Amino acid sequence: MSNLLLKNINVLYGIIEDGSSKKSGAQMASLGSIQNAWLLILNGKIEEYGSMDQCPLNHSCESIDCTGRFVLPSFVDSHTHIVFARSREEEFVMRIKGKSYEEIAEAGGGILNSAKRLNDMSEDELFVQAKARLYEVIGYGTGAIEIKSGYGLSVENELKMLRVIKRLKEISPIPIKATFLGAHAFPKEFKQNHQGYIRLIIEEMLPQVVSQNLADYMDVFCDQGFFSTEETSQLLDAAASYGLKAKIHGNELGYTGGVQTAVKHNAISVDHLEYTGQEEINCLLNSNTMPVALPGCSFFLGIPYAPVRNMIDAGLPVCLASDYNPGSTPNGRMGFVVSLACSQMKLTPEEALNACTINGAYALELSQQVGSITKGKLGNVILTKPMDSLAIIPYYFGVDQVYKTILNGQVFNSEGIN
Ligand code: NIG
Ligand code: FE
Repeated sequence: MSNLLLKNINVLYGIIEDGSSKKSGAQMASLGSIQNAWLLILNGKIEEYGSMDQCPLNHSCESIDCTGRFVLPSFVDSHTHIVFARSREEEFVMRIKGKSYEEIAEAGGGILNSAKRLNDMSEDELFVQAKARLYEVIGYGTGAIEIKSGYGLSVENELKMLRVIKRLKEISPIPIKATFLGAHAFPKEFKQNHQGYIRLIIEEMLPQVVSQNLADYMDVFCDQGFFSTEETSQLLDAAASYGLKAKIHGNELGYTGGVQTAVKHNAISVDHLEYTGQEEINCLLNSNTMPVALPGCSFFLGIPYAPVRNMIDAGLPVCLASDYNPGSTPNGRMGFVVSLACSQMKLTPEEALNACTINGAYALELSQQVGSITKGKLGNVILTKPMDSLAIIPYYFGVDQVYKTILNGQVFNSEGIN
């Protein structure tokens, strides 16, 4: 835990002083800021900030001259699948040639393909690879992250994945939340016996996941060709009886009731939302469930983008996350997510950045620790390349504007980590 003074910051962005844990609707347009600012991090936490004319220049700790640069809260990536065994570029080529994501899944590819490969890989090797991905995305500015299981699909392999996530938590310089996604797909042997697999999840996986303290949340892929709304409800009721809250994959492939099911179970978030109409928006308006859009998935699969502009205009909060996984989104750059949100979903840079910071923190119940420049929160911030406008971040799509990632008041250096 370190002390660090950032001074001569061109603009310090993402300041929240009213204790809010998320931003909704019109609030998302403002990203609290101070020009020509300083930020002091003491013992790894944000201690104080202000404008340079009141800067404690004689503070004895290490300092960085940030002339020309912006400082922002680190990204909070609330939806990833970074524990996986191998890339799936052959499916990418199949899609180029005309097969759909669902057709590939139906033919035993997709998630089942990853499950087979994960079965063949040792826990240690999985850990090494996932750790490399974790440090990779930290370098892109991610300062808190969620990681799901869901490529195990058997008792042994789901637990293996979750143990890998637990080990990542132990060594990670950023907060990690773990999500149990045993209900990601039906294994081949249960294709005609859904209740058999659901029993396996409820009676064998869940008790061990809970007793070994391996998960913070329970997720279900509630969509056509995957888990029905009834099956999802059954699984979420069981999870709730163990005190596990829900985060749902829903409405990616159709208007399938995922949103309504998530809200009914008071899920922390419902993620994907490519198919979201007025009914879903109304349902979310009467809930505490955070809608999470994953534009990288739409980009890569060529499916519609979630209509987040309509959601914000209706007064909803919106969160954005990477969905980093080998099938639908082999990319964990939150800077690119911000670009897609602005160019494809018509969010302003301020809205997109709120969606990737404070609203991401809400979707992980980490709003007290990360997601904004607020006294007492972790000193996890991004120091950008020199720039004069926030719009530069989405404008140079595919090029990260991160100069340094600062974690707990320390400049992050991934050298020697892999
Ligand atoms: O969020 N949609 C479901 N699950 C993942 C993709 C999983 C895969 O294809 O490996 C997602 O996009
Ligand atoms: Fe996902």
